[in-house]
Amino acid sequence: MTIFRLPATKVRHYLLATLTGILTGVIPLAQAELSEESRRILANMAPGAPAPVEGDFVHIPPTLDELQASALHPELKKVILRGHDIFTNTQQYRGQYVYNELNCDSCHLGAGRLPFSGPVWPAAVTLPDYRPKNDHVNNLEERIAGCFSYSMNGQPPAYGSDEMLALSSYIQWLAKGVPMYQPGASMYGRGYPRLADAAEQPDYHRGENIYQDRCSVCHGDDGAGLNTRGKVVFPALWGDESYNWGAGISRVFTLASFIRHNMPLGQPNTLSEQEAWDVAYYVNAQERPQDPRYTGDVKETRERYGETFHKHSLYGLEVGGRLLGDHDNVGNKDFLKPEALRSRSFD
Ligand code: HEC
Ligand code: HEC
Repeated sequence: MTIFRLPATKVRHYLLATLTGILTGVIPLAQAELSEESRRILANMAPGAPAPVEGDFVHIPPTLDELQASALHPELKKVILRGHDIFTNTQQYRGQYVYNELNCDSCHLGAGRLPFSGPVWPAAVTLPDYRPKNDHVNNLEERIAGCFSYSMNGQPPAYGSDEMLALSSYIQWLAKGVPMYQPGASMYGRGYPRLADAAEQPDYHRGENIYQDRCSVCHGDDGAGLNTRGKVVFPALWGDESYNWGAGISRVFTLASFIRHNMPLGQPNTLSEQEAWDVAYYVNAQERPQDPRYTGDVKETRERYGETFHKHSLYGLEVGGRLLGDHDNVGNKDFLKPEALRSRSFD
């Protein structure tokens, strides 16, 4: 279901555009005021989250029931369902593509459907695009490979493989009905929208207290989460079983937003923004597997990827007398950088 919120003042322009669209064969985006029904669905998906504002592009991704009921070819349905299965149970590839205890939906909650929880559909309609993180144009498979390499501390499935096909089919299906390429469009709840700067400098000790009060009951005093008989119940927030130093969420601002909008689980948007900043600072000041882009020297690595990445992380900085990231520990895998992380240029 796709809803484009149209400011009332633009209705006339819209009618004009529709007419022009029909005449020129370009159908303008689907437009409508958000219905009560859509507002209710959104409020259930992201309780307590900011409501859409004028000009936001709002998309409510389809559900698996809608997939079953749809007229898509049964073979395509199977592939999409396989993608959903990989996304929600990525641990089936433990030791092959995944070397920590996370699933894709440990961070992309609701199987990648929820606003403010890194909904994955925008990738399907904005890529290929230039990505500063690796300084070249990425397609959807390469974007997926990024989360395998950093967030899952792993080794992505080969480009063109069955797993890549399944994951990209799933992500693309979630984007059903969204127009391709809308430069500058503000997509409601995309990524983990940046919070306002913290009023007070984020603080390790305040963060530690909040962690003990609100998080450790599930994620453990040592941040290692809980794994019972091989099944991840609560994912690890730091240590060998968590995301590595190159993961997007190791940036304090990204984690702060993730936490504010998604944690404690079942109580989103209950921490204040200041608390979210503090606890994010605390969590991201703990040790985790090495950044796959490590040059052998933490200061040099921080410097090299500073502008595009590490200026937002605590990697290579001293916190509480410890120089963070100053080690060769790559976690449970036996390589540093997966093959798939290569550069590309059209020079
Ligand atoms: C440790 C947390 C974490 C895990 C686990 C994770 N991701 Fe991500 N993912 C992120 C972050 C952070 C972003 C960037 C969000 C932003 O830009 O604010 C992201 C972005 C994405 C995007 C782009 C979304 C957009 O708006 O363009 C896709 C696609 C994606 N992830 C797929 C995956 C897949 C597939 C997996 C499992 C193999 C996965 N992710 C696992 C944290 C994670
Ligand atoms: C009631 C249990 C519970 C509480 C309390 C809780 N979490 Fe979580 N957390 C989870 C679960 C479960 C997931 C994985 C998402 C899912 O399965 O839906 C998760 C995922 C995460 C993730 C992303 C995955 C990872 O391991 O990096 C982070 C970061 C996180 N939680 C931080 C926090 C912080 C910070 C707090 C305290 C403010 C907190 N959580 C409180 C259960 C909890």
